[in-house]
Amino acid sequence: MTKMLGLLVAVVLHAGGAIAAGNFYQDVDITWGDGRGKVLENGQLLTLSLDRSSGSGFQSKAQYLYGRFDMQLKLVPGDSAGTVATFYLSSQGSAHDEIDFEFLGNASGEPYTVHTNVYSRGAGGREQQFRMPFDPTRAFHTYSVVWNPAHIVFYVDGAPIREFRNQQAALGVPFPTSQPMRVYASVWDAEEWATQGGRVKTDWSKAPFVAQYRGYAAAGCTAADAAACARSNAAAAWMFQELDAAAQEQLRRAQARYMIYNYCTDKYRFPQGPPPECAADK
Ligand SMILES: *[C@@H]1O[C@H](CO)[C@@H](O)[C@H](O)[C@H]1NC(C)=O
Repeated sequence: MTKMLGLLVAVVLHAGGAIAAGNFYQDVDITWGDGRGKVLENGQLLTLSLDRSSGSGFQSKAQYLYGRFDMQLKLVPGDSAGTVATFYLSSQGSAHDEIDFEFLGNASGEPYTVHTNVYSRGAGGREQQFRMPFDPTRAFHTYSVVWNPAHIVFYVDGAPIREFRNQQAALGVPFPTSQPMRVYASVWDAEEWATQGGRVKTDWSKAPFVAQYRGYAAAGCTAADAAACARSNAAAAWMFQELDAAAQEQLRRAQARYMIYNYCTDKYRFPQGPPPECAADK
């Protein structure tokens, strides 16, 4: 009987979606960088470094179909021009889905850029970029993604900065609904384009460039039990989350203050008018 109950509880918990609260040893694999990625502090801290010969990166062991994903980052300090640190979700294959946070470094004293993008079925090109209201190299700040059947929301320190709504039924804009994704992070060299359009190159005399990650938390449906997860009340917090009036106001303010690029208003790229989702998205 006790055994039965135990099994039942385990099944219910699993269906509700695993909540992994920050042990990098258990949650991720360092997948490239030949020793440049390091797990420290009993699994609480992960550092990724970049030098002239390589960057480094890690990925979650688990795959998710919908979820809420939090990561705290402390970005490369000082002269980080040409470097990019990332925290993103992606599925596999040519028609892949992807939800991106990328942090574009800059020359000493110049502001970082938060670059966001959403790919569905292999098509991206939905960039929005933001300034940060703080120095992201001095302390850890929390960057989060909520992905559910209604929308994808990007958060900085708990405040929404971008919403990409599911307009598949209404406008025929593909939305990620079926391909499980892993969480990825990396630090790499993108001096050809990252900083001031590629004009400011990486100063390799400042290498290694190190970004720090902690506080990783993933509350998601695992691929195999997505349907059960969607039905489960335990998943409700993020699975059925929508932006209420207060959150929409926060979003509007963040965009008014901090947005520096929006593909939706790029007349050069879209002379015939913006893509269809732009009318509905924030
Ligand atoms: C770097 O700083 C310059 C000058 O302040 C700014 O124009 C640019 O947007 C910043 N970010 C990047 C990634 O180039």
